[in-house]
Parts: sequence; C-alpha cells; structure tokens
Amino acid sequence: MIHAAPRVPLRDTPQVYGKVTRLLHWTMAALILWQFLGMGLRAIYGRQDWLAPFVGSHAPVGTALFGLVVLRALWALSNRRNRPAHDGGLLGTAATAGHALLYLLMLVIPGLALLRAWGSDRVFAPFGFEIFSAKTPPVEWTGTLAGALHGELGWFLLALVAGHVLMVGLHQALWRDGTLARMAGRRG
Ligand code: HEM
Repeated sequence: MIHAAPRVPLRDTPQVYGKVTRLLHWTMAALILWQFLGMGLRAIYGRQDWLAPFVGSHAPVGTALFGLVVLRALWALSNRRNRPAHDGGLLGTAATAGHALLYLLMLVIPGLALLRAWGSDRVFAPFGFEIFSAKTPPVEWTGTLAGALHGELGWFLLALVAGHVLMVGLHQALWRDGTLARMAGRRG
C-alpha cells in the first residue's frame, strides 16, 4: 500500500513549521546570503566594476529584507503558541535566545541603514520611486550611528547564521531528531 506524504499545513503546528513560515525563512535566508556574498566580495576585492550587481542591489534587497522581517516577526507572534517548541535545558534555552537575537539583528541591521537613508542629504529611491526625500541639512547622527554599527553588526549576524547552520547540522548528525524536517521536510 502506498502512503501519501503528509501535506505541509499553511500555519505552523507543534510538529512542523507551516508553508508561510517556510517561505519567509528560505526567501530571507537566500536574500541575506546574497547581501553577505556581495559585501564579502567587496571586502576582499575592493570597489570593482564587476561587483556592481552586488553593490547596486544591496540597498533594495536590504529594504525588502526589512519589510520581510517585520512580516515574519508578526507571523511568528501570531503562531507563537502553535509552533515546534525547543527542548528544555541549556540547549533549548540557548536556541530560544539565539533565535531571538537573530530576529533582533535582522531588524536592527537594515533598520540602521534605513535610518541613515532617511537622514541623508540624498533622495532614497531603492525601487525607482522616492521613499525618503533629501534632508537639508542632513541629520548627521543617523549617518554616524549606522556608520559605526551597520557593518559590524552585519558581520556578527553572519557569525550567528553560521552557528545556526552548525547547530542544525549537529541535530542532523548527532541527535537525528528531525529538526531540519520541521522547516524543510514533508512531515505534516
Ligand atoms: C539584512 C539586511 C542587511 C545586511 C545583512 C547588511 C549587511 C551589510 C554588511 C555585512 C556590510 C559590509 C560592512 C563592511 O564593509 O565592513 C554592509 C554595508 C553597507 N550596507 Fe548593508 N546590510 C543590510 C541592509 C542594508 C540596507 C537596507 C541598506 C540601505 C538602506 C544598506 C546599506 C549599506 C551601505 C551603504 C553599506 C556600506 C557602508 C557601511 O558599511 O555602512 N544595507 N551591509
């Protein structure tokens, strides 16, 4: 007898993350990796013509990410009593704290850059239409704040993402508890 694979539900359940959470998670993962790839190449090779697609897309992709993380945080809140729980103990507490920090950084990093764009003396139009007008005089502290923190926190987020992927790898290899399948598998 052939058993059909269980369908992934739209909303989260205590067993698995649903379709909306998965779409947000994997879309954002791809866009965040794009940001790091571009900025990483720029850090290694400096300002080069062939890096234009990466550098030119950084602000629009980052602005889209800010919108997506707001949606994702609201969706997580509305599903908070109805999604897979972490185990108790130290590892479970570390997972909860790590995920909260990921959310915070995903909000603050593009948020700081957008604040700088708001305070700048240049029009901010990442998608071809004006989002922030030019300020005369520019709001200096927004540039100072983002200049000090945006990139630094960005690299810290990269380290945290690496830790996140490593932990999923450990769950798969050592504990074989189906952690990855909650976000990627067909367990309904
Ligand atoms: C989650 C979204 C974002 C991530 C992960 C991210 C990450 C980064 C990283 C790692 C750097 C390199 C810093 C360095 O060279 O050491 C950087 C630079 C930069 N980013 Fe972003 N960024 C994001 C969103 C944005 C947004 C929305 C804007 C514009 C509104 C923006 C504007 C810039 C600018 C102008 C730089 C170069 C100057 C600087 O380092 O502050 N970024 N970003």
